[in-house]
Amino acid sequence: MKIAVRYQSRSGNTRKIADAIANSVGVTPMDISVPLGEDVDILFLGGGVYAGKCDESVEKFLRSLRVKVGMVYCFSTSSTYSTILGPVKKICEARGIPISDQEFHCPGSFLLLHRGRPNQEDLRKADIFGTNCKVWAAVATESES
Ligand SMILES: Cc1cc2nc3c(=O)[nH]c(=O)nc-3n(C[C@H](O)[C@H](O)[C@H](O)COP(=O)(O)O)c2cc1C
Repeated sequence: MKIAVRYQSRSGNTRKIADAIANSVGVTPMDISVPLGEDVDILFLGGGVYAGKCDESVEKFLRSLRVKVGMVYCFSTSSTYSTILGPVKKICEARGIPISDQEFHCPGSFLLLHRGRPNQEDLRKADIFGTNCKVWAAVATESES
C-alpha cells in the first residue's frame, strides 16, 4: 500500500502530528511544498487553522495534484475546534478526489492557549489514527475486489 504524508505548519504544532502519523504508517512526512510524484492509496494531509481557514499552500497543493489518490485523510491543529476538513473537502469534491470524513484534530499551542499541545497523549492518539486509517483503506480495497 502506497502512503504519503504532506503537512503545512507555521509554528511546528501540526508537524508533530505529521511525524506521529508518518511514523505509525512507516513513511517519511514531507512539507506541503513537495508535490506527490506517484499515485498513492492514502494521502494524509495536514495543516493548521489560521483566521478560520487552512493555509493557502494546502489549497495550492490540492489544486495542482496530478496523480491519483485513493483516499485523503485530514489532520489539523488549532486553538479551537476548527479543522481544515471543510475547505479541503470542498476542493477534493470539486476535483473528484475521495476524502474521508474521519479526521484527526487536537489543540495546538497559540499565544497563552493550550501550552504544551500537542502533548504525548495527542501524539499517541495521532499514531492510532494513522494505524486505523491504514486498516480502513485495506478493508475498503478488499471489499472492492
Ligand atoms: C495568524 C494565526 C491565526 C490563527 N487563527 C486561528 C483560528 O482562526 N482558529 C483557531 O482555532 N486557531 C487559530 N490559530 C491557532 C493555530 O491554529 C494553532 O496555533 C495551530 O496549532 C497552528 O499550527 P502550526 O503550528 O502547525 O502552524 C491561529 C494562529 C495564528 C498564528
